[in-house]
Amino acid sequence: MQSPLDRRSGLHAAIIMDGNGRWARARGLPRGAGHRAGVKAIQQVAEAAPALGIGTLTLYAFSSDNWRRPAEEVGGLMRLLRAYLRGETERLARSGTRLTVIGRRDRLPAGIPEAIARAEAATEAGDRLNLRIAVDYSSRDAILAAAARLGPEGLSRDAMSEALCGPGDVDLLIRTGGEKRLSDFLLWEAAYAELHFTERMWPDFEAADLAAAVADFAARDRRFGGLNPPLLTAAA
Ligand code: FPP
Repeated sequence: MQSPLDRRSGLHAAIIMDGNGRWARARGLPRGAGHRAGVKAIQQVAEAAPALGIGTLTLYAFSSDNWRRPAEEVGGLMRLLRAYLRGETERLARSGTRLTVIGRRDRLPAGIPEAIARAEAATEAGDRLNLRIAVDYSSRDAILAAAARLGPEGLSRDAMSEALCGPGDVDLLIRTGGEKRLSDFLLWEAAYAELHFTERMWPDFEAADLAAAVADFAARDRRFGGLNPPLLTAAA
């Protein structure tokens, strides 16, 4: 049987990066320090992903509901995003990583949409890893917007999947930080995702944790609502 890891385009793994604030509080640091440490974890995970068979990695950096956080924290996150785009683009391009950003761009601070467009253009040729960062992202809003674009006549499962999931459905969805919820992330795309929850706070999440999540995924029996071949044979 073909392993899910053998697929040519690789696995689509998605991560809800949670726990930055608690990581910082446990160290007596401001929440922003947790977010800064979280950027280092992003770098580690993006570097480790291709060797683990991951072709697409989608990271939840800022949800549309995160605008409700204090202005100071939101401003800090936007500054981090700007610095990440400015500081990482060249390294990503050199490592064959294609960067794309999903989510709304019209509410981002001035200059960031342009920085995103520059980073996307500069990394466009990357074919080792498709790194997608979700910013001002809401899955429910993305589904509504896609439905509006398609119109009643154009609506179908395939058309919606095409409109939403460029790189295909999510295979493995990881959430760090101990919570067990989806928080409006990739709801359509993760219909058959295997879920992996870990207590690890995001800034502490490293390559070994990603490898453990992929190993957990590889041991799952994915039936997509059907039966697996041995069971079918036994029943026949
Ligand atoms: C959740 O932890 C994390 C976030 C809301 C932000 C994630 C952002 C980063 C990892 C860094 C910025 C990203 C880029 C791409 C530059 P939380 O703050 O909700 O943690 P808590 O639940 O412990 O309070």
